[in-house]
Amino acid sequence: MIPLLDVSDLRKLFPIQKHGLQPAGLLHAVDGVSFSLAQGEALGLVGETGCGKSTLAQLLVRLLDPSSGRIVFNGREISAIPSNDFYAVPDRTQIQMVFQDATDSLNPRHTAFDAIADPLRHLKKLRGRELRDRVLKAAELVNLPDELLSRFPHQLSGGQKTRVGIARAVGIEPRLIVLDEPTSALDVSIQAVILKLLEDLRQRLNLSYIFVSHDLNVVRMLCERVLVMYMGKVVESGRTVDVFRHPRHPYTAALINAIPSIRNRGLPTPLRLSGEPMSPIDPAPNQCRFYSRCPKRENLCLTASPPEVVDKEFMTLCHFPS
Ligand SMILES: Nc1ncnc2c1ncn2[C@@H]1O[C@H](COP(=O)(O)OP(=O)(O)OP(=O)(O)O)[C@@H](O)[C@H]1O
Ligand SMILES: [Mg+2]
Repeated sequence: MIPLLDVSDLRKLFPIQKHGLQPAGLLHAVDGVSFSLAQGEALGLVGETGCGKSTLAQLLVRLLDPSSGRIVFNGREISAIPSNDFYAVPDRTQIQMVFQDATDSLNPRHTAFDAIADPLRHLKKLRGRELRDRVLKAAELVNLPDELLSRFPHQLSGGQKTRVGIARAVGIEPRLIVLDEPTSALDVSIQAVILKLLEDLRQRLNLSYIFVSHDLNVVRMLCERVLVMYMGKVVESGRTVDVFRHPRHPYTAALINAIPSIRNRGLPTPLRLSGEPMSPIDPAPNQCRFYSRCPKRENLCLTASPPEVVDKEFMTLCHFPS
């Protein structure tokens, strides 16, 4: 069976200027990422701030052009299409994105109705009655009462704005939705309701999700599989339950150990990270990027890049996986 999405060796390097003069180096935001996703699957993408999650998300929905690598969606290479032309590609309607802060991503001068209608107008070319019916249907899917549709973003609560963002994405009936921290700006109680909604929608509409979060607990609730990123690279991937039960990469172990509810249950190897992260600008090619903070580091980690150790569905990028 061909996967819905197949990403291979994807890179995004940002040139860094010093004082607006010569390029001073390349920031490796996404650096050789590969994975695939099946129809209906939810994949979590976790890692601390700056590790490249949003850059990867934006490459996938083609808001950014990759520096190199391939993105194949539905059997068709979409990475070669310049992001400016991507709007006109038929597959465009099948990939949607939900952004972190609904306040930033919604136009303050557009009502909730217009926000949901916008992609239906532009991508599905719907007008009049048909457009209205589809907007109402999308609002109903996310439990957004009709009377809120005439409101502007500043007249809506955070949870309601998030629902508008989700309705906007599901309204055009995509197959894949990339969600970049969709609930991180919300109260915990509202977050739980929205996560439940997302899970229901996925099952009802057979959607695939790529769910970006720095909160592993959220990913654990929603995603069967998880990718752990560190400085532009996937350092561990596997089924979420397995990764939680038995993290093999020292970074993943530290991330999981940092979750209070888990620490209290006493994970066997408590780890705390010390040391400064290394610079993502022109990182040395032949060393592990986690070296400076790794409790298990050896000389080898400084002289050879870590191998991808594959064990069934697990992949760990480490010389010394547990
Ligand atoms: N347009 C850009 N130009 C230069 N550097 C960028 C650009 N966008 C992102 N970066 C850098 O790329 C790296 C990855 O950033 P990104 O926003 O993808 O991280 P993130 O994992 O989403 O972080 P967060 O959890 O804080 O949202 C960071 O070092 C960031 O400074
Ligand atoms: Mg981000």
